[in-house]
Amino acid sequence: MLLKLAVAAMKNAYVPYSKFPVGVAILSTKNKFYFGCNVENAAYPQGLCAEAGAISSMVSGGCLVISEVLVVSKGTQLIVPCGGCRQKLSEFSKSETRIHLATQTGIKKTLSMDELLPFSFDKTYLNI
Ligand code: THU
Repeated sequence: MLLKLAVAAMKNAYVPYSKFPVGVAILSTKNKFYFGCNVENAAYPQGLCAEAGAISSMVSGGCLVISEVLVVSKGTQLIVPCGGCRQKLSEFSKSETRIHLATQTGIKKTLSMDELLPFSFDKTYLNI
């Protein structure tokens, strides 16, 4: 299901500049699915990563914890979340949250949040 949703979202990616579509699907700990794609902009830094869209959808849907997340792009090369997206994902993950890296044909690698972003900066540093 995660792969199907992420691939469908990827097909809607707005990527006229990079031509690099990304799709993300999230399963929240409330067992609800969310998805997103990258949305670029003529003012390049205003573009949004697919993870940001999927996280925004999850939060606006009333869920705050990711159980599993899958990231997919075109072709045979695996995509990994960028540094900023690792930080965004970690805000809504547990250390054991699973991050699946996939091609359109299936999941090729699965990492825990701790493996994807060790030594992360989190709210404990803010004494929250
Ligand atoms: N991109 C994502 O959507 N997620 C990532 O984690 C890495 C990069 C997008 C941003 C841009 O639209 C395109 O991929 C090329 O960098």
